[in-house]
Amino acid sequence: SARQDLAGRHVLISAGGTREPLDPVRYLGNRSSGKQGVALAQAALARGARVTLVAANLEVPVPTGVSCVLVGTAQEMLKAMTTAAASADVIIMAAAVADYRPKSVQLGKIKKDEVGDTLTLELVKNPDILAGLSASRRPGQQIIGFAAETEADADRLIALGRGKIARKGCDFLVVNRVGLDAGFGTERNTVTVLDHGGVIVNEASGSKMSVANCILDLIG
Ligand code: C5P
Repeated sequence: SARQDLAGRHVLISAGGTREPLDPVRYLGNRSSGKQGVALAQAALARGARVTLVAANLEVPVPTGVSCVLVGTAQEMLKAMTTAAASADVIIMAAAVADYRPKSVQLGKIKKDEVGDTLTLELVKNPDILAGLSASRRPGQQIIGFAAETEADADRLIALGRGKIARKGCDFLVVNRVGLDAGFGTERNTVTVLDHGGVIVNEASGSKMSVANCILDLIG
């Protein structure tokens, strides 16, 4: 078994992708499988941590031994993360949170014979959970964010990450390229980790479990 370097720590992880309802049967969602977040939970557990997983629509099972809160939407995730953050030593926002949600949720199914040939959706911005948790962090609490980008150029990918960590205020940002062939839903991942100053502190490529362990190595 792994060295117990996270014994006595409470690690809070969000995983999966939020779904924002349009009506009782439809939602706006994304392609996050939850695999990287679940691998982080599994790795943290193996290293002795107490782990809370806030899970949105996972395509993979929740590991035994992890305390799990199931959520659907970004607003539900905000509530669950805020509650659990009160006792967390480490927070990792691996979930793909919808940036926008439909302004109103129809009580009944949206019907094409009533709407006609074009349907316009009005969306409102969701709260930025990572930025909020970072702004109100407890002393000593460490916060790690993710940046999934479709940018193929490595330098521009890192530049996007540097801007993002400055805006979000977290301690580390795990930058990875996603697309139909990379990142979301796949078994492997390639990431670059930036610290708060935008300096590259780690690069990892391999199984989502090995990437998880590289990320957890940063927690001092
Ligand atoms: O801004 P962007 O969505 O690229 O940022 C990604 C990071 O911010 C991830 O860690 C994600 O979990 C988090 N996030 C969040 N709340 C949002 C949007 C993103 O916590 N509304």
